[in-house]
Amino acid sequence: MALNGQDLISIEDLSRDDINKVLSVSQNMISAAKNGSKLCEGKILANLFFEPSTRTRLSFESAMYRLGGNAIGFADAGVTSAKKGEVLSDTIQVASSYSDIIAIRHPSEGAARVAAEASDIPIINAGDGGHQHPTQTLLDLFTLAKEKGKIDGLSIGLFGDLKYGRTVHSLACALSLFSGVKIYCISPEQLKMPPHIINRASECGVSISEHGDISEVISKLDVLYGTRIQKERFGSEKEYHDVKGGYAIDRKIMSQAKKDMILMHPLPRIDEIAYEVDYDPRAVYFKQAAYGVPVRMALIALMLGKVK
Ligand code: NCD
Repeated sequence: MALNGQDLISIEDLSRDDINKVLSVSQNMISAAKNGSKLCEGKILANLFFEPSTRTRLSFESAMYRLGGNAIGFADAGVTSAKKGEVLSDTIQVASSYSDIIAIRHPSEGAARVAAEASDIPIINAGDGGHQHPTQTLLDLFTLAKEKGKIDGLSIGLFGDLKYGRTVHSLACALSLFSGVKIYCISPEQLKMPPHIINRASECGVSISEHGDISEVISKLDVLYGTRIQKERFGSEKEYHDVKGGYAIDRKIMSQAKKDMILMHPLPRIDEIAYEVDYDPRAVYFKQAAYGVPVRMALIALMLGKVK
């Protein structure tokens, strides 16, 4: 299996076979995600989070405990020696001597790649700036497979901050590996999907188009995937204020969608999905977050060679 002993820095590190493997092992982890297992007994995960996180960090930690292993780490760079001026590669070299696998989140694009070079144990990118978030994509794909029964052939709308949103970058790249997928990118002009991702998807045979208005396309969609405007990645407050509040999914917009469309979001949401929509059975974002545990269990077990 390609994942054993490898790093996961970009979703592009994985082939379609690798992704299928992670998804099938994730399904097998559902009961262990509730009841626990001893698959990774004695193993240590280091969770090195230099940027805020709720779901990703907690679900990595929960996943390792449910595998019978242990987790160490930090959730705030301000309490680490980075604050004293230590460079990332030194921190990683040391953390890799204290653990068996590392999950790292960092505000700089490319930080996970730097970490992988400094480490002799597997590194998982848990989000590097506005670049990539491959483990979110694995749980997004698992959600699609569970809730829609398939990924091939789906029409998927991605809306919000497609410029800085790392989850949609990784997701669009992964969807390029599936056949018959249609991607509708819906964003304000200033926050469009980067051209290299659009080009790659179309080279892979995905039909990908750009839109400004959700109402234009919502009735065609099997899946609508929202993202938060990534305030922390803007150059200035003004730039953020110019685009904020552009999209708000409410009951009225949902009434234009197919009866079996699903609404996904990596969370946290700010104002792009009204709370009233939570009661709509098509809103699956909390279920999606819950799938983070079995999917990250599968990934850790595969990368540590505990599952073939
Ligand atoms: C996302 C992230 O950190 O990129 N959250 C997550 O991991 N579930 C999305 C976001 O912060 O907007």
